[in-house]
Amino acid sequence: MTGAVDPKDLIILTPSEKPVAEKARALGARINPPLDALADAKAFVIGVKPAKWAEASQPVLAHLSKDAVIVSVMAGVPEATISQGFEGRSVVRVMPTTGVAQGQGVASLWSSHKAALDTGLSLFAPMAETAVLTSEDLMHAATAVSGCGPAYFFAFTRALAQAGVAEGLPEDVAMKLARATLRSAAAGVVGDEALDTLIDRVASPGGVTQAGLVVLNENGALDRPVKGAVKAAVDKSTELSG
Ligand SMILES: NC(=O)c1ccc[n+]([C@@H]2O[C@H](COP(=O)([O-])OP(=O)(O)OC[C@H]3O[C@@H](n4cnc5c(N)ncnc54)[C@H](OP(=O)(O)O)[C@@H]3O)[C@@H](O)[C@H]2O)c1
Repeated sequence: MTGAVDPKDLIILTPSEKPVAEKARALGARINPPLDALADAKAFVIGVKPAKWAEASQPVLAHLSKDAVIVSVMAGVPEATISQGFEGRSVVRVMPTTGVAQGQGVASLWSSHKAALDTGLSLFAPMAETAVLTSEDLMHAATAVSGCGPAYFFAFTRALAQAGVAEGLPEDVAMKLARATLRSAAAGVVGDEALDTLIDRVASPGGVTQAGLVVLNENGALDRPVKGAVKAAVDKSTELSG
């Protein structure tokens, strides 16, 4: 629990009771109560699969206050579509990363309504870094960078381990070193310190790391595929939401 909401004020609607719902119940949350309990809800968070939201929202509509803010974590479903489905209620879209579950994530937010945006921030800021987007279209780019990004770092880590094996390290040792290096690199990213400063701290001029870095991005060798990957993810996200 993050402190964003008192568990006693939390209502969870779920087809199947999961351990997390049980944990919330133990702290005072109500699980699948009669739907008239929703009348006082200030925010209604919807996190079902995008194909299911219209069906899932149908039973709750009559019970929600007209002022309830709809908080959608669904990928690709536009604000206007959700608002229409929720009979004109204001909507904030949030794209959280999986790390939010460990209190280590980041969430991008968009709403055309200031009050709805503030509701989204009040819910997510206690458990994640937040980034407010200036247009809804940027949700695709935010998803491509932060939603997909962990997979890119994992793929890089695997390539780093394989490169270590190519240089003679036993596979298990190379994998242990690469994974632990991913964790320690992440631990070094605190505050707003520039990435160039972090790089300089590891790479002294003319040294070992510097020799590797020169090859890593020779003629844009690193920048090009990263740009291509993010562009491909943006295109896919746009296609799926259309
Ligand atoms: N996975 C990610 O990294 C990520 C990141 C950002 C946003 N999202 C978005 O988050 C949403 C969920 O994605 P997911 O990968 O977590 O899918 P998921 O594991 O299938 O979760 C969907 C959840 O919706 C519940 N559900 C289904 N019908 C419902 C209903 N009528 N009322 C209440 N709950 C209902 C399901 O419960 P049962 O299991 O009991 O059926 C399940 O817990 C999607 O919209 C996705 O776009 C996902």
